[in-house]
Amino acid sequence: MKHVSVLLNETINALNVKEDGIYVDCTLGYAGHSSAILKRLKKGKLYAFDQDEEARKHSENVLRKISDNFEIIPNNFVNLKEELNKREITKVDGIMFDLGVSSPQLDDAKRGFSFHLDAPLDMRMDKDAKLSAYDVVNDYSFNDLYKIIKEYGEERYAKQIARSIEQRRKQKNIETTFELSEIISNSVPSKYKRLTHPARRTFQAIRIEVNKELSILPKSLNDAIDMLNVNGVIAVITFHSLEDKICKDVFTKRSKENELVKNLPIVPDEYKPELKLLKKIKPSKEEIINNKRSRSATLRIAIKMR
Ligand SMILES: C[S@@+](CC[C@H](N)C(=O)[O-])C[C@H]1O[C@@H](n2cnc3c(N)ncnc32)[C@H](O)[C@@H]1O
Repeated sequence: MKHVSVLLNETINALNVKEDGIYVDCTLGYAGHSSAILKRLKKGKLYAFDQDEEARKHSENVLRKISDNFEIIPNNFVNLKEELNKREITKVDGIMFDLGVSSPQLDDAKRGFSFHLDAPLDMRMDKDAKLSAYDVVNDYSFNDLYKIIKEYGEERYAKQIARSIEQRRKQKNIETTFELSEIISNSVPSKYKRLTHPARRTFQAIRIEVNKELSILPKSLNDAIDMLNVNGVIAVITFHSLEDKICKDVFTKRSKENELVKNLPIVPDEYKPELKLLKKIKPSKEEIINNKRSRSATLRIAIKMR
């Protein structure tokens, strides 16, 4: 399936792209947002990160048709500061994240992300990464499995599911998405299966663990904010409540007034809040109808003030 970009216009409008500016798309994917940024650049440059080789290959061709004012960086965005500094870029005018996985990643059976498609358990966005879903499912202790399924999946039957995984792998290792999905399905009450696919939350939790999606976020967002020019914009699209909470916490912390100067009539510039937060944006009803994947999205935007 083609990837339909979420909150595309809202994000691009927020970035307020200047034709000679420097912009960073931390999650290139299938180049929906990157194409829109690149089309607005004349002398400026776009740097786009993706840790997925297939996404990079596809998007290189898409972007090349627009202009040459871009570079794709094959690395995890947790290394954005180091990668940009290597290119002598210390400040940028806008930076965006559209977190999570793309539709082609989910729909490619061999990537092992989907409980709808039978494949070896994998779920790595970066195929060179060491940890795969197979390792998490077969090697993590009961307690660690329970913790990630409960926390990252917000799964109410986390204990039962972790227990069933533990029981099954005593007999033989769990190899495939369908095996795992069946184990999960057999661990939850039938009424739960009528509400949602019973494997959805556990698969999400394992994917988050495999790709360290939450643990890398605070550093990445803080580094991104550090790199913004004054009036530069950061825009972050999240799809998960914990992801959104991390973003909200980082933004809130960096938009707070320094306690020491709270009651001073004139606040010296270096004590003023670093960020001004704009109102968060959710997809319109129309977007949700046209693209179901957008239903859990939240866009947070902040402007660098000093
Ligand atoms: C939701 S898709 C982005 C879609 C893109 N905005 C578009 O419109 O086509 C997320 C992409 O970010 C990549 N990605 C996720 N986490 C990453 C990370 N930590 N470092 C680099 N790339 C990452 C994924 O491989 C995926 O291709």
